[in-house]
Amino acid sequence: MTILSPSILGADLLHLGEEIEKTRRLGIRWLHLDQMDGLFTPTIAFGPQFVRAIRLKTDQFLDVHLMLEYPMQHIEDFVAAGADLITIHYECKDDPEKALRAIAAHGVKTGLSIKPATPPEAIEHLLPLCDLVLVMTVQPGYGGQTLREDCVKKLPIVKEMIQKTGRDIYLEVDGGIKAGNMERVVKAGANVLVMGTGLFGVRNPERIVSAAHGEDAPCTL
Ligand code: DX5
Ligand code: ZN
Repeated sequence: MTILSPSILGADLLHLGEEIEKTRRLGIRWLHLDQMDGLFTPTIAFGPQFVRAIRLKTDQFLDVHLMLEYPMQHIEDFVAAGADLITIHYECKDDPEKALRAIAAHGVKTGLSIKPATPPEAIEHLLPLCDLVLVMTVQPGYGGQTLREDCVKKLPIVKEMIQKTGRDIYLEVDGGIKAGNMERVVKAGANVLVMGTGLFGVRNPERIVSAAHGEDAPCTL
């Protein structure tokens, strides 16, 4: 089964409660919560209070993606807000190893992400500290961009590196994932798909859920 992690950035923020409820009724177990500092990314979003508000609304698995230059100083706040998994960027200005250890010390699952220009080999030594690897398939910052083929090519390489560790590490993709390319990224090795506009912006999200979960997917919308 492929896990879907709907990116809240693609939801109707004025009706966020209903949008989240819709994903829950579709049988989707994860939510992807982007955090951006205006430095690592050109844009700003959303902060721990926002994660907390969502935590109070749902028991779904909160997959928090920190696109921050200095994630270390915020880890405790996101843990307290109710994050289940915290992903930091290899390219951040803190020591990624220290940041991953800090996340794990809080009993929260750890994720490590790479931007399009970073080769997969750069993070191989850090895989023993990761529960998830996030391969960005667009430049971080905005929803609604087009999937980058050069990034899809990294997936089999990361998958092989993960297999070598002998551990179950999720391989997540984020950016430009749509109904029309999800099968291809799964074949390339991804097993967690972040979808923003590709899920919240479509008329038949249940078809995407069936494709990801298989025919027996709970689908009551
Ligand atoms: C991009 C964010 C993504 C974004 C994906 O910087 O990390 O999570 O919301 O949006 P779509 O699926 O619309 O490309
Ligand atoms: Zn993201």
